[in-house]
Amino acid sequence: MNDTKILLAGATGYLGRFITQELIDRAYEVKAVVRNKNKVKVAAPNLTIIEAEVTKPETLQGICNDVNTVISTVGITRQKDGLTYMDVDFQANANLIDEAKKCGVQKFIYISVLNGDKIRHTKGGEAKEKLGDYLKSSGLDYCIIRPNGFFSDMGDFLKMAKGGRIYLFGDGKLKLNPIHGKDLAKVVVDSIDQNEQEINVGGPDLFSQNEIAELALKACGKPVKIVHLPDWIRRFVLWIFRTFTNQKTYGPIEFFMTTMVMDMQAPQYGEHKLHDFFDQEVKRLEIN
Ligand SMILES: NC(=O)c1ccc[n+]([C@@H]2O[C@H](COP(=O)([O-])OP(=O)(O)OC[C@H]3O[C@@H](n4cnc5c(N)ncnc54)[C@H](OP(=O)(O)O)[C@@H]3O)[C@@H](O)[C@H]2O)c1
Repeated sequence: MNDTKILLAGATGYLGRFITQELIDRAYEVKAVVRNKNKVKVAAPNLTIIEAEVTKPETLQGICNDVNTVISTVGITRQKDGLTYMDVDFQANANLIDEAKKCGVQKFIYISVLNGDKIRHTKGGEAKEKLGDYLKSSGLDYCIIRPNGFFSDMGDFLKMAKGGRIYLFGDGKLKLNPIHGKDLAKVVVDSIDQNEQEINVGGPDLFSQNEIAELALKACGKPVKIVHLPDWIRRFVLWIFRTFTNQKTYGPIEFFMTTMVMDMQAPQYGEHKLHDFFDQEVKRLEIN
């Protein structure tokens, strides 16, 4: 058994599940803090599950006792809990940092987002960067991991592809290298024993948005039909949401629509291929 004890927050999410497995495989003693035990689908002798609400600091008291390193992937992606990015991405993670400090934890590893400094003007970017600043001034050793889009998010291309046509804003030439959760989990777990304080990371292959759209359409057995929409439509849609909905609704839309028109290239890492992921997803969706 590895002597380092890890508290993982976010174990029920896409990335959190891969990190849980990676920690178990590397024989760390792992405590996973979740809000619903039934969502944990893995069991192992070196895994303990604790139920608590990271948004409620009073439920976290003592959870970091004996813990050396805390890893958090907690953040809003598609949750519809009526909470804001500031409530979750900032405050819930700040609650964990406070508790970690009280319990004498040495290191805190936080999963942020690539190019977070360039999207500080969005609600999601603001909360994540504020948390990064809070962590840097906490006195704890830290590592902020800034990944590119996950394969799970590329599923949105597949959803459109099933309908036979993919819509992109702009000319589709912007580049990105999305990463599989299993590859990213290795980077996260490696960082426990490394000294780097910020790590930018993406998957092994760099694609233009057009190339990802083509891959998704081919995986669905459809001819390549990509519609390029002018950017004013995106700005108009954002304006509508910002004006007529509250930030709980428009925050995630703003986050998604802002990163869609950014060049998102990160240091290339990993071995999982996007076309394999698309093929598996198509099969999985056909079976369901
Ligand atoms: N997806 C991407 O492409 C991408 C790219 C770069 C960075 N990131 C960031 O990486 C992190 C992990 O992403 P992911 O795709 O793994 O997200 P995910 O699948 O939605 O998982 C998020 C985790 O946070 C927890 N969480 C969310 N709201 C909560 C709340 N109010 N109270 C308690 N727990 C809460 C979720 O718990 P439940 O399971 O109980 O909801 C889940 O365990 C996020 O911060 C995300 O912004 C994601």
